[in-house]
Amino acid sequence: MSIFAADALKKEHALVTGATGGIGSETAMVLAEMGASITLTGRRANRLEELADEIREMTPDVQVYTYKADLGDEGERNELVNSAEGENGPISLLVNNAGISGGGPVNQLEQKDMERVMHLNYTSTVRLTQLVYESMKKQQKGAIVNVTSLSGLRGTYGGTAYAGSKFAMTGFTHSMALEAIEHGVRVNAVSPGFVDTEMGRASAQKKADRQSSSLSEVVKDSIPSGRMTKPREVANTISFLLTDAAKNIVGESVKISGGSVLH
Ligand SMILES: NC(=O)c1ccc[n+]([C@@H]2O[C@H](COP(=O)([O-])OP(=O)(O)OC[C@H]3O[C@@H](n4cnc5c(N)ncnc54)[C@H](OP(=O)(O)O)[C@@H]3O)[C@@H](O)[C@H]2O)c1
Repeated sequence: MSIFAADALKKEHALVTGATGGIGSETAMVLAEMGASITLTGRRANRLEELADEIREMTPDVQVYTYKADLGDEGERNELVNSAEGENGPISLLVNNAGISGGGPVNQLEQKDMERVMHLNYTSTVRLTQLVYESMKKQQKGAIVNVTSLSGLRGTYGGTAYAGSKFAMTGFTHSMALEAIEHGVRVNAVSPGFVDTEMGRASAQKKADRQSSSLSEVVKDSIPSGRMTKPREVANTISFLLTDAAKNIVGESVKISGGSVLH
């Protein structure tokens, strides 16, 4: 069976966080194309419904459930997992994709900004994963992909808060991978460079402003392939890592950056 076949994930239930965003919405679409039941979550209810309608139109046989939640809130995380499992059965695939940027250079960094970024990108992601891990352990199967960043593997200018939170996610990925594999649960990460989403373009523009250059020059100079990664390319890598084709890939951080880290 091709790993991207329409029934490749037919018996699975995938929870995709940050589904209203660039990478999350593409990931939800690829997973639906592979037959998984999907729960979409984010804070923008309208966008969740629009995406759910698009998916239902594209793949009418796939179960799609939406649940609006602020992942920073413990009660909302609990409700999300309870209602998703009530609707679509135990979650077997988890994509921890929701994330925010923020902070700034060390001399301007305020505690509230560090805590905001760390709370959502790290603490809330770990807390949500703990809830889902309970049912994965009962099933003795599951796969989790954390969307970290190249900033989770090397520092960036002004990245103390954001890179700090993504390094923490890398540490979480590697540590949980070691614990979870004995329960048949695989944990991996994808670590994209600049991705062509609102967040990716804003961050490349920030770098351009600092260097008094343009976004296109930053892309040309810092990415050997000469272009930003498309959200669909990140989605494809996440989806591959969730399939049995990746069954012995455990605790990896897969870089998707057009070669940015090589020069
Ligand atoms: N774009 C890049 O260049 C790039 C590079 C490396 C890594 N990444 C990572 O990839 C992930 C997705 O990024 P993206 O580019 O697709 O960004 P995006 O379009 O801004 O999406 C971010 C998502 O996170 C959700 N989110 C933010 N705060 C939330 C909260 N408190 N509760 C629930 N959901 C929340 C947003 O949903 P709502 O607004 O609906 O709440 C949105 O769906 C992030 O973790 C980011 O750090 C991005």
